[in-house]
Amino acid sequence: MKYFITGGCGFIGTNLALSLGKKNYKKILILDNLSKITANKNLSILKKENISFKKIDIGKSKQKIEKLIKQHKPKVIFHLAGQVAMSTSLKKPDFDFQGNVLATINLLESIRKFSKKTILIFSSTNKVYGDLKNFNYIEKKTRFIIKNNFKGFSENNYLDFKSPYACSKGSADQYVLDYARVFNLNTIVFRHSSVYGGRQFFTYDQGWVGWFCAQAIKHKLIKKTKFSISGNGKQVRDLVHIEDITRLYRLSFKNFKKLKGNAYNIGGGLKNSLSIIELINFLEKKLNIKLNYHKINNRLYDQKIFISDNKKIYKDLKWKPNIDYKKGLDQMLKWIKSSKIYKNV
Ligand SMILES: NC(=O)c1ccc[n+]([C@@H]2O[C@H](COP(=O)([O-])OP(=O)(O)OC[C@H]3O[C@@H](n4cnc5c(N)ncnc54)[C@H](O)[C@@H]3O)[C@@H](O)[C@H]2O)c1
Repeated sequence: MKYFITGGCGFIGTNLALSLGKKNYKKILILDNLSKITANKNLSILKKENISFKKIDIGKSKQKIEKLIKQHKPKVIFHLAGQVAMSTSLKKPDFDFQGNVLATINLLESIRKFSKKTILIFSSTNKVYGDLKNFNYIEKKTRFIIKNNFKGFSENNYLDFKSPYACSKGSADQYVLDYARVFNLNTIVFRHSSVYGGRQFFTYDQGWVGWFCAQAIKHKLIKKTKFSISGNGKQVRDLVHIEDITRLYRLSFKNFKKLKGNAYNIGGGLKNSLSIIELINFLEKKLNIKLNYHKINNRLYDQKIFISDNKKIYKDLKWKPNIDYKKGLDQMLKWIKSSKIYKNV
């Protein structure tokens, strides 16, 4: 197999596999432990395309991973498997450590021992920068802002792991970079914030864009909903559509040399940034509804703003997001309606 996708039954993994094109489907091996309840839904789509699948827990199965990598010597491993929810990391930090740190070490060690040419692309998170408290935030009517021509956060911000989730993702992120420095492995790190789009089985804890879209559709089609938002709703994130992300992953292994050993912030950028209140306003206008919500406490270490400065990845890969949030949200709403996922929020 040429391509391994760990966590390939998840949101990014399934979309990535399908985006590699039919002629490559027989060269893909999906590795997933199906721990996400909805992973089976994506698996059935992958199976229809005859894409190979192996049920495996990357954090627990060192020897099996070694065997697979020794046998296939894959050209690329897209490492997307992981424990993805901050709330779970607070309840079960050891489980979070296993899913994020041990899983990553198992892959890196197997590559180091048996397949040094393999490219490993790791999906990290903006949470590695902590709550970014050292900036001066100004509260406006619908969002927080930072003055002085702020264009987003670059990779030069210092790392500040707060919460077990940030520690485990951040630790994996640093191991991936260090294996390029110390062992000369072919690794890259992408630090994502809010990816959204079809086949995302979001929950209350992960995938806020989809979750609010589903609330709005449920309100419109079934019954008036009542939901909570954490904090004052003025927190800002930059939205990046899944098609832009799968394009990035495809481009990156084809143009790997320039990217080797680097970490990149990846997001929708300033012009695709929205606060929770702004997303809700957008949905109310679009669907001609009035949503009913109340405010609860801030989430732990919530960033007031995370907007990615995409300058570094643009310089090295010429990648920038193409799908603006209005078009992307249109597609997202259509998918939520057709998949009927709004019935479960
Ligand atoms: N979607 C986003 O907005 C976003 C933002 C920041 C970082 N990321 C990172 O990108 C990656 C993919 O995210 P996603 O949104 O597709 O998540 P997802 O939850 O949809 O997919 C993760 C998949 O990994 C599998 N998995 C979990 N632990 C595993 C293990 N130990 N062994 C094997 N499989 C395991 C799950 O069953 C699931 O299918 C994650 O590592 C996540 O931390 C995503």
